[in-house]
Amino acid sequence: MNEKELVLEVSELTVNYGATSALKSVDLFAHKGEIVGLAGPNGAGKTTLLETIAGFLRQKEGDIRLFGTQINEFPVLKRRMMGVVLVPQERNNFPYMTVSENLDVGGIINCKDVNKRLIEEVYQLFPVLHTRANQLAGTMSGGEQRMLAIGIGLVSNASILLIDEPSTGLAPKMVTRLFETLGSIKELTGKTIVLSEQNIGVIDIADRVFGIEAGEVRFCEKTEDLDRDIIRDLYLGK
Ligand SMILES: Nc1ncnc2c1ncn2[C@@H]1O[C@H](COP(=O)(O)OP(=O)(O)OP(=O)(O)O)[C@@H](O)[C@H]1O
Ligand SMILES: [Mg+2]
Repeated sequence: MNEKELVLEVSELTVNYGATSALKSVDLFAHKGEIVGLAGPNGAGKTTLLETIAGFLRQKEGDIRLFGTQINEFPVLKRRMMGVVLVPQERNNFPYMTVSENLDVGGIINCKDVNKRLIEEVYQLFPVLHTRANQLAGTMSGGEQRMLAIGIGLVSNASILLIDEPSTGLAPKMVTRLFETLGSIKELTGKTIVLSEQNIGVIDIADRVFGIEAGEVRFCEKTEDLDRDIIRDLYLGK
């Protein structure tokens, strides 16, 4: 396996909502097995970027490449079949189905054996989902539902997981646990993860961080080279 294989390459991406420009010539890339953090304040364009990569929004200009193939005009389902999976911030489960039914649906395009194995892996990562397998998803706590959403993403057998602000609404202790789990997902599965986050703790698990503000990339740094003050300025203002 080539560690440096480029899974996702976004170049000069511009996305508008009517006359308003939400992304302005954004560049972003992710190598195989990397966790890429997408940091930025409210309204920076993080969700817009992830939704455009997954195909829910269309770019005005620019290019999106997956394993070198241009996917600009591919519909959501085709991108999904190629391994692009978005874990949205909200409305990310079927509330009137049980935890285990949600996981079955998440892996619906896999063959039965693969799905069984992936669900077992998810239960290992998030034991609470195993304990609560027969509980209706909508009755799980906020943190448990967040774990379920990530679990659904994992059973989908993605080659790249786009996770939109997984820590929102979680208690600090839960955030730490969630980040640890995402780190172990990377170690165990070698998945490529692009993670939008407002929680500064993301720099503890990300290999690289893109800082985005007002629709523009302000920096792209390897985490070890990152100046924490830059991140603080990005969130708190100078
Ligand atoms: N459907 C829409 N119509 C018009 N403007 C929109 C729409 N969706 C988002 N925007 C605007 O685009 C900009 C980027 O929004 P986006 O949701 O991508 O930001 P974000 O970085 O995900 O913010 P947050 O951290 O609050 O989730 C914001 O100014 C927002 O108001
Ligand atoms: Mg958002």
